Amino acid sequence: MFPKWFDKWNADNPTNIFGPAIAVGVAGSAVFLAAMIVGFGQPFPTESQQTGPRGTGMHVQEFVSDLAVYPDVEGFFTSEPVVPAEGAAMMGDAAGVPPALANLTPENYERLVTAMREWTGIPDLLAPGNDSYQTQVAWSMIEMTQNINQNWIGHVQANAEVGVTCYTCHRGQAVPNNVWFKVSPVNSNVAGWSANQNRVTMVSNFTSLPSDYLETYLLADENGNYANIGVHDLESRVQQQPGDPLIQQAERTYAFMNYFANSLGVNCVFCHNSRAFYDPGQVTPQWATASLGIAMVQETLEQYILPLQDVLPAERLGPVYADVPKLACRTCHQGEQQPLNGLNVIRNWPELAVLDGAPDYSAFE
Ligand code: HEC
Ligand code: HEC
Ligand code: HEC
Repeated sequence: MFPKWFDKWNADNPTNIFGPAIAVGVAGSAVFLAAMIVGFGQPFPTESQQTGPRGTGMHVQEFVSDLAVYPDVEGFFTSEPVVPAEGAAMMGDAAGVPPALANLTPENYERLVTAMREWTGIPDLLAPGNDSYQTQVAWSMIEMTQNINQNWIGHVQANAEVGVTCYTCHRGQAVPNNVWFKVSPVNSNVAGWSANQNRVTMVSNFTSLPSDYLETYLLADENGNYANIGVHDLESRVQQQPGDPLIQQAERTYAFMNYFANSLGVNCVFCHNSRAFYDPGQVTPQWATASLGIAMVQETLEQYILPLQDVLPAERLGPVYADVPKLACRTCHQGEQQPLNGLNVIRNWPELAVLDGAPDYSAFE
């Protein structure tokens, strides 16, 4: 079928076409595969969550660790409430009943006390006649939990009904994990910027950043003010104005932000656009939730935790200042974006959802 000259030329120039054919085949398959991946997407993508506009690299990878044995969702004890009958008797001011639970029927009171014992791992908590310091602490812990659930809905129900119960922090232990104490000044005989930095501590997340950021940002000073979370000026070589953040405050801010990221198991772009950490116009909605979280922790420490100083026995107090064990983001979040992976813990416990007034059982009628 080919012209004679071609058959002759072909016979005179024998060529092994297998080599080139394999090369062309391999290259062709690679192009085909690449086209399929682009067209249909990566079959084994890393789990990640997009937090900002496309193409800006704003996404948070999910790290899955097989070592996570910390009590989590599976350990959450719960039971359905008993809707009180019309005119049912309440606990009122019966002996040993915390005032915050006066509006409960005896069934629901027993139910809640059983749960609180499971959640905190304290078997005789609130037992009649038991006036241990733990029972005394529990009285204010109940009010604290109710206050968080009633007045900080913007945080603890930011996305859905989640809320907090004792288990959110305690996870079956009397003293929750990830509590913190005051540490500064670790080395007070160092002049100037003290050596509360460049020390490997757990609280600095093993970085060379300062270890005193929690006490600096979350506890009020003697005038009731909180330190400003911020970094140095954007302009180079500007005249330092009184109150402007120094480089030390920048380092402390980064230490605090590190703590945020580790507490939630996320990275910085979960809340910021990393091209402009300073710009509130480019933050994500989670930034606002975090911002409320800061205020919630400040209030909780001030109103409920610090006053326990005189209630706790010496062995519970901190190593440097004999101060109370304090909570912050990590005490609830425990490395998860939403504590207990966003499990709705408050659903069955309307008793812990309101600080003033009777629990609302209408969802169970
Ligand atoms: C937001 C976190 C958080 C929640 C929620 C919480 N606790 Fe606590 N709890 C703590 C911290 C932090 C401590 C340690 C500091 C202290 O004892 O004051 C503590 C200590 C205690 C202690 C003292 C334990 C001991 O042996 O020293 C008791 C009892 C207790 N909590 C009961 C409760 C009960 C009951 C609830 C639920 C109504 C609850 N807690 C909810 C954070 C929490
Ligand atoms: C969970 C949300 C969240 C995460 C994660 C987070 N930040 Fe922040 N960041 C905030 C909030 C909220 C503020 C504002 C605090 C305030 O002013 O009260 C802030 C403030 C800052 C500031 C100060 C900005 C200024 O105005 O001077 C810097 C810098 C910063 N973050 C850097 C980081 C870095 C770096 C990371 C990652 C290691 C990070 N952030 C992770 C929420 C977050
Ligand atoms: C009393 C317990 C508690 C403390 C303390 C706490 N959080 Fe939360 N946080 C929650 C709960 C519960 C949710 C889940 C709300 C939801 O998803 O509806 C949440 C949600 C968030 C979210 C939103 C997550 C998302 O997926 O949108 C951010 C951001 C956050 N917390 C940051 C912080 C930071 C930062 C701190 C410390 C300054 C902090 N939280 C302290 C209980 C707590």
